[in-house]
Amino acid sequence: MAQLTLKNIKKSFGDTPVLHDISLDVNDGEFVSLVGQSGCGKSTLLRIVAGLEQPDSGDVLIDGQSMLNAAPKDRNIAMVFQDYALYPHMSVGENMAMPLVMASLPLYARLPMMRSITPAGRKAQPHIREGVEKVAKQLHIDHLLDRKPAQLSGGQRQRVALGRALVRDPQVFLMDEPLSNLDAKLRVQVRSEITELHASSGLTFVYVTHDQVEAMTMSSRVALLQTGHLLQVGTPNDLFSDPVNLDVAQFIGSPEINITAGESRAGQITIGEAQLPIDLGTTGPVHIGIRPETISVPNTNGLVAAHASKQGHKITFNTRVIEDLGPEVLIHGAFAHAPDGVIRIRAQKSDSYSASGSLTKTKTFDVMLNPNQLLFFGADGQRLRPAVNAAKLAETV
Ligand SMILES: Nc1ncnc2c1ncn2[C@@H]1O[C@H](COP(=O)(O)OP(=O)(O)OP(=O)(O)O)[C@@H](O)[C@H]1O
Ligand SMILES: [Mg+2]
Repeated sequence: MAQLTLKNIKKSFGDTPVLHDISLDVNDGEFVSLVGQSGCGKSTLLRIVAGLEQPDSGDVLIDGQSMLNAAPKDRNIAMVFQDYALYPHMSVGENMAMPLVMASLPLYARLPMMRSITPAGRKAQPHIREGVEKVAKQLHIDHLLDRKPAQLSGGQRQRVALGRALVRDPQVFLMDEPLSNLDAKLRVQVRSEITELHASSGLTFVYVTHDQVEAMTMSSRVALLQTGHLLQVGTPNDLFSDPVNLDVAQFIGSPEINITAGESRAGQITIGEAQLPIDLGTTGPVHIGIRPETISVPNTNGLVAAHASKQGHKITFNTRVIEDLGPEVLIHGAFAHAPDGVIRIRAQKSDSYSASGSLTKTKTFDVMLNPNQLLFFGADGQRLRPAVNAAKLAETV
């Protein structure tokens, strides 16, 4: 059992506040990602959980017990850092054994030589070897135990660092951008290995990343931090389809959500020539968020928007560039009424797709917006929700 609770954590470095009143519950066995831009306070928060940094106020609890007075080694928490800092002169096996050696042997018996000749060392040796071998098997690095870190690939080194953190059988596993040193292909591979490790170990995971795709694909819940404020915590789908504000909407989703200006008045929203029967209960300018996969394009050259429906309102679109991504295309352009804006449309190819079709030739065509799939935000960036269910209204279109 390891339920992790962060309660009203505040932290400043000198006069600069870095974390503002962060509260977060991570359930036993859950995988929560902390995501946010560089410098937003992710590592600081993780270091506070691990006991490497003290908060100015607030508390860190594991299973209801405050950890603030517990030393890092007594918290039963393992942490993997971005630069996984393996000891270069030690073999993989010795690197992985280190946390067990530190925990179970007195100072004089810790050197590999001394472990085999001192009584304390000899007694602990089988237990240490067993622990290392078990974790090495789990991570598929058992054939590498005699190599030095320099003789490993980046992905293998990463797994050794994970292994070294796991040998002590922690209750909570903290990872600070563990994939950032790997190339794109290896990241995807190790990403799924970490997800598997979570499933097979049943441990409570907190995973820090600035890559929203990583956060969305790996975790059961995502916590989005911005300049030390926790903006929203929820399932990946909550953050994607029900963001609390413009910042969350723009951070989550790839390609990024399109934002265009509209006008809310008398139960209608106007975007260019389109009049949407949506009552936001406000009068004045609004930001409209349109996910790239929800814009319907004419099906004339075999393109369909991934999530678009036939319902909708026409709006004129000018194409600038079409990128062919294999199974789908990304169309960059702008609405005719707002030529300075940038609108991206993600459309999937059907069997009848033709690269030289009319869509690529004409440059200007009508797209359709479905009112149900739009997100609305006020001038202050906060989410505005229609007073009446847009789905009902759309039926009347
Ligand atoms: N020991 C320190 N002394 C002073 N300022 C610090 C210290 N550690 C971090 N900071 C500052 O606190 C802020 C948050 O840093 P933190 O390392 O937590 O960010 P992060 O979200 O992990 O960023 P990144 O994604 O770049 O790793 C930054 O502005 C950073 O400069
Ligand atoms: Mg960091």
